[in-house]
Parts: sequence; C-alpha cells; structure tokens
Amino acid sequence: MTIIREHWSARSGFIIAAVGSAVGLGNIWRFPYVAYENGGGAFLIPYLIALLTAGLPLLFLDYAVGHRSQGSPPKAYRALFSKAESLGWWQVAVCLVIGIYYASVLTWAGSYVYFSIGQLWGDQPEQFFFEQYLATTASSQFEWQFVSHLFWPLIAVWAAVLLILYGGVKKGVELANKIFMPMLIVLFSILVIQALRLPGAVDGLNAFFTPNWQAMMNYKVWLAAYGHIFFSLSVGFGIMVTYASYLKPKTNLTGSGLVVGFANSSFEILAGIGVFAALGFMAFSSGAKVEDVVSGGIGLAFIAFPKLISSLGAGADLFGFLFFASLFVAGITSMVSILQVPIAALQDKLAWSRSKAVTWVGGGTAVISTLLFSTTSAIKLVDIIDHFINNIGIITGALLSIVLVSWFKRHLMQQLAEHINVRSTVQVGGIWKMTLTIITPAVLLSTLIMTLSGLLATGYGDYAPGLQWTFGWGVILFCVVFTLVLTQVNDRKGK
Ligand code: ALA
Repeated sequence: MTIIREHWSARSGFIIAAVGSAVGLGNIWRFPYVAYENGGGAFLIPYLIALLTAGLPLLFLDYAVGHRSQGSPPKAYRALFSKAESLGWWQVAVCLVIGIYYASVLTWAGSYVYFSIGQLWGDQPEQFFFEQYLATTASSQFEWQFVSHLFWPLIAVWAAVLLILYGGVKKGVELANKIFMPMLIVLFSILVIQALRLPGAVDGLNAFFTPNWQAMMNYKVWLAAYGHIFFSLSVGFGIMVTYASYLKPKTNLTGSGLVVGFANSSFEILAGIGVFAALGFMAFSSGAKVEDVVSGGIGLAFIAFPKLISSLGAGADLFGFLFFASLFVAGITSMVSILQVPIAALQDKLAWSRSKAVTWVGGGTAVISTLLFSTTSAIKLVDIIDHFINNIGIITGALLSIVLVSWFKRHLMQQLAEHINVRSTVQVGGIWKMTLTIITPAVLLSTLIMTLSGLLATGYGDYAPGLQWTFGWGVILFCVVFTLVLTQVNDRKGK
C-alpha cells in the first residue's frame, strides 16, 4: 500500500490546528502556576523575553524544517543531515512522555466539567482537589492505591483522543479544532471579564503585572520561563515540524507563525489575568496576601477557577460546565497534536497505515498512562515528569535542532531562510539568524547546565530521591534508549 501524505484543507485549517495545539493546558493550567511559583510579577518579563529570543525564532525554524521535507521529525532532520535522524527520535520520545501525563491533567479538566454542576467542590476547592478528588497525601513517597474515579475518566479521555486521531489530519484533527477553538475563545473571554469584576481582583492583577526586579535576579525564574515557552508554543518537540509537513507547498509560513504565536501568548496572559484576579478575590475575602492565598502551585487552576465560578451565583452551573468543557477541549486539541508526532514518525519510518500507527502508539501510551495516573500518586507523578521532560527533554531537543543548523551545518540555515522567504510575507533575515546562532543557543545551553547541576545537587521538590530517579531521570533515560533503538531500525517502503 502506498501511503499518500495527508494535507490540511487550507492554510486556515493549519492555523487553527496549530493554535489548537499551542493553546492547551499549558496556557490555562501550567502558565498561571509557573508564574505564581516564580513570584508573579517577576515572571512576565522573562516570559516575554523567552518568547522573542527563543520561542518565535524556533517556531519559524520548526515550520521550515517540517515544510521543506514534508516529514515527521526523524524524516525531516534526516533530510537536512543524515546523522540527525536521532534528533527526530528524541523529539518523538519527548512527545510520548508528555502524552502520558498530559492525559491525566486532561482527565482532571474533564471531571471538573461534571463537578461544576452544583459546584461539588463546595467552599474549600483546595481541599476538594487534593484530598477528595486526587486522594493525595503530603507524604514524599509515592502511594499506589487505585482510585477508580480517576481510572474510568482516563479511559474515556484516551478513547476520545484516539477517535479523533483515527479520523486523520483533515477529518479528525482539523475538524475537532474547528469545532472546539471558537467555543474556547468565547467562553474564556467571558470568564476573564467576570474575574475582573470581583472585589480584590485589582490586587491580584498588581501582583501579576508589577515587575519584581529583585526576584528577576534569581536565575530560576529565567529557567522557568525558558522551560515553559517551548511547551506552550508546541515547539522544540516535533509538533510544529509535523504539522507544517501537512501544508501545501505554497504557504505563507511566517505569517501563520505570527498568528499562532500571538494567539498563544494572548491566551496565556488572559489565563494569568483570570487566575490572578481570582487570587486577588481570595486574598480580599480571607485577609491574606495574594502570594500566600493558596499553597499548591500545580493545582492552582483547579482551585482558582472553581472559586471564580462559585462567585457567579445563579449562572455558576452553566458557566462552570461550559468553562471546564472548553478547557477540556483546548487540552484535547493539544493532546492530539502531541500524539500525532509519534504516529506520523512511525507512518514515515515503517510505512504503517494511520490506523495501525494510532492503534499501537495510542494503545501503548494509553495503557501506561492509565496504570500510572489512576493512583493516589497522580499529581506527584505529573509534577516530577513535567519538570524533567520540560526542563531537560524539550530544552535538549530544541537546543540540538538549533545548533545543528546554526553551528554545525551553517549552509542549512541559509537554505531554510530562503525556503521561508520565497513563500512568506514576513521575511526572516539577519536578526533571525543571529538570534538562532548566538542568543538562543547561549541561553539554552546555560539553562540546561544550570538545570542539570541544580537537579543533581538538590533534586526536585521534596520527593524521595528514589522516586525522582525513577520518574525524573528515568524518563530521560527512556528518551535516550528509545532514540538509540529507533535510529537503528531500517526504513520500510510502502508497496
Ligand atoms: N502547547 C500545548 C499546551 O500548551 C502542549 O498545552
């Protein structure tokens, strides 16, 4: 069977799918808590600098690499330089790891759709989230008790994601995005406006928007900003390479990239506004300071948004339902894009049909994900794996793809720039090349070195060392082994 490469129906289909991939749990769940943990006002400026110096330049690079080769990451990097196929497999491995825990957070969002009818979280959303819903404890060890109310929704989430993926690029991924993204935009805007009307909201916004120059001297704030931007924009781990590979030859790449980048950051900042306004409201109601009002960073969205929704009075049910439904669908469109990478890679490498690739990749990851995340340790696992894969896995993949074209094979940089410029309205030139040659690699290399030395010296959080080694360093080891093995596999041609 000869496999014909699928395509988006039009550039608009690609843009909406790329925005759907970028805008996800990263914007609404991850960004506000990373900002909160990094001092609120200290985070915004490093975030914007990370966007301009690393996120957008890499987004253009990813588009050019995927579009030029019409291939998933292993095929695309090999087309640039034969030995670079392994870089593509590294990015595929990172997607597999992210997909496994992303489904868990997506399940929480899905369950909150149900909880929002009647606001089952009551007036203590924090306790509800950690103790009743996730059934977690403060212990630094993992506990593996089975939680059935996490298990069944996880199965349902995986079934929905795989169903969309079976539909293919146009009839699955693109269609799902066209339905869900407009819904998210409307609902989210209404929620943010409501957040701004709450008493105390302005104190929350001050905490978010007032730059904290002193906290910005802390290098960890910068590490967090660079660690977040790639996850958020879906760059550096193969998604945009893969999505661009389904574009038709004559497509304005930078124009599309700027729309995606702008939409993604707008969403992120809107989510920050919503959450910090809600924190201001909570501080106002309890007499505490905005920075002390909740303890859990990683659970922030599941505490602040319920608070907001409960404040709506008569409309709370409807609104809560619609909000969490749209958060869920924003996450689903990103989840689909994450899994699309390994699926496309196996299709390209082994000439598998889409359904075979979806069944094996989706089925395998679904089983692992369901086993790990329907336990009382779900949130601890999410925290550890998310930290290691973002700050080591994604940054390494991003750094290698940049130095490949800017340091080792410099002629490729020129070729890729030409590839972009002949079909795009906004041209890339000296600034793009200089950023990718000097600024981005220098920042990413130092980020990576500091992250590694910090983790080796003091570990992450309060988790027991054995657990950090198993699920933190363990996933990095998995990525290394996966890369080495898949690089050795011979290509199979479709008959
Ligand atoms: N870019 C996706 C998100 O932000 C992965 O959730």
